[in-house]
Amino acid sequence: MIEKCLFPAAGYGTRFLPATKSMPKEMLPIVDKPLIQYGVEEALEAGMHHIGMVTGRGKRALEDHFDISYELEDQISGTSKEAALEGIRRLIRDCSFSYTRQIEMKGLGHAILTGRPLIGDVPFGVVLADDLCLNPGGVGVLAQMVELYRQFRCSIVAIQEVPAADTASYGIVEGEPVRGDIIRVTRMVEKPKPEDAPSNLAIIGRYILTPDIFGLIESTPPGRNGEIQLTDALNEQARRGCVMAYRFKGRRFDCGSVAGYVEATNHVFGEASGDQS
Ligand code: G1P
Repeated sequence: MIEKCLFPAAGYGTRFLPATKSMPKEMLPIVDKPLIQYGVEEALEAGMHHIGMVTGRGKRALEDHFDISYELEDQISGTSKEAALEGIRRLIRDCSFSYTRQIEMKGLGHAILTGRPLIGDVPFGVVLADDLCLNPGGVGVLAQMVELYRQFRCSIVAIQEVPAADTASYGIVEGEPVRGDIIRVTRMVEKPKPEDAPSNLAIIGRYILTPDIFGLIESTPPGRNGEIQLTDALNEQARRGCVMAYRFKGRRFDCGSVAGYVEATNHVFGEASGDQS
């Protein structure tokens, strides 16, 4: 239904310095797998097998990760260590990968617009890899959103409730309930102060976007922090009644922050070692 997924991955990851000085933040591992791989697995599970990445300077490790490493393969061939590469081999086999660079950091909206040549004129998924979303025992968040796209044929954003004090870290939506877990968005605001926030429903880093978003981003002036904000372009679609917000099933970890990253690591390690705490 939706075959393409875009990964904006040009950000500097300043909250993780010095770790991210020469390594992309998307390559930070949660236990033994980099964040970007979790994201691509989620996209493939949702049927999105054409992966587009918007990278930047110092991000070559991303391309290398989704490529064969012949020396390594040769070294471990026939040993038990091969098993550790099964997951990434499957992604390399089942997905295509294309890359483009964002030359200047002008915001998430600008990053999405930079990815336009990789997407074309079709609806597509977006994953912000530092939001790790897990739904053990069920399908991933993007796959859940594709089901909704089938029904509504409009842009969809994943949301979750956040403490009122945290609204300035997120895009915040306002809208009318359609059913328990779905809201038709009437307005959205990028990172409002708590006193200006229309709700405490925050956008997390999973989107399905209809391709008219590109034209809307083109005519979006710089907003919060002087950057071109995806939220502002989506607000235009929302005005036309074309954005649904979805309270997804599963758990999201903010791996863009050290605390969220450690929490995710503990959670994934606990699951793997059978610790139910
Ligand atoms: C971006 C978006 C914001 C969204 C957030 C989710 O912000 O601009 O609307 O709520 O991702 O993680 P960033 O965290 O990149 O500043």
